[in-house]
Amino acid sequence: MAAAGDTGAAEHTSLSFLDAAGDRLYYRGYDAVELARLASFEEAAFLLWHGRLPGAAELADLRHQLAAARVLPSAMLAVAAALPRELRPVAAVRTLLSSSPKPSDAESGGEAIQLTGRIAALTALVHRHRLGLPPMAAPAELGQAGSLLALLIGLEPDASRVRALDAALILHLDLALNASTYAARVAASTGAELDAAVAAALATLEGRLHGGASAEVLATLERIGTPERAGDYVLQALARKQRLPGFGHRHFKGIDPRAVALKELSRTFAGGGDARLHDVAEALETAMAGARGLRANVDLYAATLFHALGFPADLFVLLFAAARVVGWTAHALEQRAEDRVIWPACEYIGPTPRPLPSRGNP
Ligand code: ACO
Repeated sequence: MAAAGDTGAAEHTSLSFLDAAGDRLYYRGYDAVELARLASFEEAAFLLWHGRLPGAAELADLRHQLAAARVLPSAMLAVAAALPRELRPVAAVRTLLSSSPKPSDAESGGEAIQLTGRIAALTALVHRHRLGLPPMAAPAELGQAGSLLALLIGLEPDASRVRALDAALILHLDLALNASTYAARVAASTGAELDAAVAAALATLEGRLHGGASAEVLATLERIGTPERAGDYVLQALARKQRLPGFGHRHFKGIDPRAVALKELSRTFAGGGDARLHDVAEALETAMAGARGLRANVDLYAATLFHALGFPADLFVLLFAAARVVGWTAHALEQRAEDRVIWPACEYIGPTPRPLPSRGNP
C-alpha cells in the first residue's frame, strides 16, 4: 500500500474506520458497538489481527495463548520486586514490558499476543507489588477481562462484570491514527521491535489529553460531588479556559458512539451500588452540552464504569492499554509491512541564515 506523500505516515489502514459523519466506529468493517454487545474481547482481537472472526478452534487457541502470556517469566517478577513501590503503575508496566528478551522463535503474531497478555498480567503484578502482596496468576480458563477482574479486584468475577469489562475493552480496541497508535507506528516504521513500539504507545497514552484523561475524570467528578453542582462547575471551569477531561474529540465532533455504549454499561453497574459519580457525570454531560456544545468522549463513562467495577483510578489507563495494545500491535505490523520511515516535513519558522558574531582571535 502506498505511503503518504512527503511524510511517510500511513494514510491508509485496513484496521479501523472512524466514521465521524455517521457517529460510528468500525473494526475491519464491523460496527465496534455491535461487537462490544455480541463478541468477546478475544474474538475482537483476533478480528483486528487477522481481518476475520475466528472459528471455534482458532478462538480456543488464542485464549490458550493469551492465558500462557499472562503467566509472567520469573525474570520479570525479579525486576518488578526491585522497582520502587511508589512508581506510577503505568511507568512500572512500561519498564517491565521491556525487561524480558523476546523469545528467539517468536513470530510477530505470537509476539502481539504475548504483549497483550503481558500488559494485563503486569498491571496486576505492579498493583500487588505496591500493596506489598505477592504475585498471583489468574486461572487459565479466564479471558483478558476475567483475569483483570480476578487479579486486580480479587474477586471470583461474576459473569455480568466480565461481560461489562469485555465490552469496555472491545470499545477501547482501536481508533485509526490516534496519538498512541501513531506513536507505535512511528516506532515501527524505523524497524524498531514490537515491544518498543508498544512502549512508545504506552508512554503516549498516559498523557492527560489522551488515556490519562479517565483518571482526571474521576478526580473531577469527586471534586464536583453532587449533580446539582455540575452546572456551576462547568461555567467556572470554562470561564478559566480549563479543558474538562472526558469531553471533546479531535474527530468525533458529534457523538462518540463508544461514550453512548459505556454510559449504558456504567449506569447498569453504578445502579447496583454507589451511583453518585455516575449521576454527577450525567449532570456534567448535560451542562457541557448546554454551555459549549461539547460531547462526552470515551473517557467520561469509562471512568465511571471502571470505578463502579471497583478498579483504582490510577489503573484506568492500564485497563485502556490492556485493550488498545491489540490496535497498537496490529498497526505496528501494518506499518512494518510498508517498510517506509515516518518522517513528516516541518516548516521552519526560526531566524533566516545569518553570520556568527565576530569573536576576535581565540
Ligand atoms: N473542555 C473545554 N473546552 C474544550 C474541551 C474540553 N474538554 N475540548 C475542546 N475544548 C475547546 C477548546 O478549548 C477549543 O476552544 P477554542 O476554539 O475556544 O480554543 C475548542 O473546544 C476546540 O477544541 P480543539 O482544541 O480544537 O480540540 P482538539 O481536537 O485539539 O482536542 C481533545 C481534542 C484533546 C480530546 C480535547 O477535546 C481535550 O482536551 N479534551 C479533554 C481531555 C480528554 O478528555 N482527552 C481524552 C480524549 S479521548 C482519548 O484520547 C482516549
